[in-house]
Amino acid sequence: MALKQSFLDEIHTVLPSDAVRRTNLEAYGRDETDDFYFEPQIVVYPRSGEETARILALCNSHQVPVTCRGGGTGLSGGALPVRGGLVLSTDRLNRILHIDTANLQVTVEPGVITQVLQEAVAEHGLYYPPDPSSRGTCTLGGNLAESAGGPHAFKYGTTKDYVLNLQVALMDGSLIWTGANVTKYATGYHLTQLMVGSEGTLGVITQAVLKLIPAPGANLLLSVPFNDLESACRSVSAIQLAGLKPSAVEFMEKEALELSASFLGMAMPFPSEVVAELLIELDGDSLDQLYPQAERLSEILEKEGAGEIRLADQADAKEMLWRLRRQIGHAVRAYSVYKEEDTVVPMAALPTLMVKVKALCADYGVRSVCYGHAGDGNIHVNLLKEQHSDKYWKEILPQMIRELFEEVRRLGGTLSGEHGIGWSQKGYVDVVMDPVQIQLMKGIKTVFDPQGLLNPGKIWEG
Ligand code: LAC
Ligand code: ZN
Repeated sequence: MALKQSFLDEIHTVLPSDAVRRTNLEAYGRDETDDFYFEPQIVVYPRSGEETARILALCNSHQVPVTCRGGGTGLSGGALPVRGGLVLSTDRLNRILHIDTANLQVTVEPGVITQVLQEAVAEHGLYYPPDPSSRGTCTLGGNLAESAGGPHAFKYGTTKDYVLNLQVALMDGSLIWTGANVTKYATGYHLTQLMVGSEGTLGVITQAVLKLIPAPGANLLLSVPFNDLESACRSVSAIQLAGLKPSAVEFMEKEALELSASFLGMAMPFPSEVVAELLIELDGDSLDQLYPQAERLSEILEKEGAGEIRLADQADAKEMLWRLRRQIGHAVRAYSVYKEEDTVVPMAALPTLMVKVKALCADYGVRSVCYGHAGDGNIHVNLLKEQHSDKYWKEILPQMIRELFEEVRRLGGTLSGEHGIGWSQKGYVDVVMDPVQIQLMKGIKTVFDPQGLLNPGKIWEG
């Protein structure tokens, strides 16, 4: 449906003409989810919460769908304008407003790149732990909307654990703060947490007050090879039962390592008999404190069947291992048409999950590449199309995904640990949520957005 001239005229009363774009919109129709494409009709770049709220009010009165977009790195299609309409880009809402060292807090706008914030607070000896693999290009607003995690979620928690207060623009044109800049909050419904992970369906975050912690003084990495997937997965419980709390416990099966090494143009840095690697990071005050912990950890891992453990304590060795890990997603994307599933189960169920994934893939003749945040029981299962015909792929994929998540549910897990539901996963919500849960969520949506215009078509069918 074409946008009405009266709507366009009113948009221009709110925003200067360089903050409105009506041509060359192709890049705003995609994110990093599969090959979905939905072109919007207009893209706007507000510079403040007030401008954002006015845009939403206009869309509300003219019944124009609105989809908010940060870095466009989402993996469930949250930023895709599936009903067309207006894309609200947070590109110009990109200031770090106040680093409050005395309170260990920072106030940011949503378009700040996650890594930019991490580097800015590091200059004050502070640390913002949530670190999705895309941290160099994703934004804090997107991280908040999707409840993003990353490797350091294991010790430090996900984005939701670092949010104190949010300024949010609503569809009726109001601009509110959801809570207070405090670490304890027992003052009515927790609207701040309700916004986190709501995937841009309830309001548009225009400022966030985030919690910081003192930066650890040192870290080191252990790369731990295994000859079978299950032992690698089983070690996760053993490490925690021993009272150790690494800052990351990442899992990569061999195929993931190979794809990433070849994508980065480097030789495979592990022996060929390795079936899976755990990448384990320890952090603390000093390396002297960490070496004895690394020794204890190694003893536990050897008992669990680990091969020769290598320790990386120099910056370039650590950097190489992290690059290899963080680029897996892009490497898989470059290799084949694929579908990434964000499985998450209680950690002791990981070995069983891995067996079931491989059995399911064998049934359908599809290869999978698994990697992810083993410490959190959160494994990204990438199903590869490779040589299969479009027809076969289209037929079997939904069935395979459904079977996969039926198993995940039986194991006590759910549909997404950190990527969200968005557009790509909504067809499977019924596998893990009961109809009453879905009705309650729809009820909340209606309170915030009675006309269903804000990021429409996401999370549930209908
Ligand atoms: C990762 C993203 C895909 O863990 O979540 O690399
Ligand atoms: Zn991940």
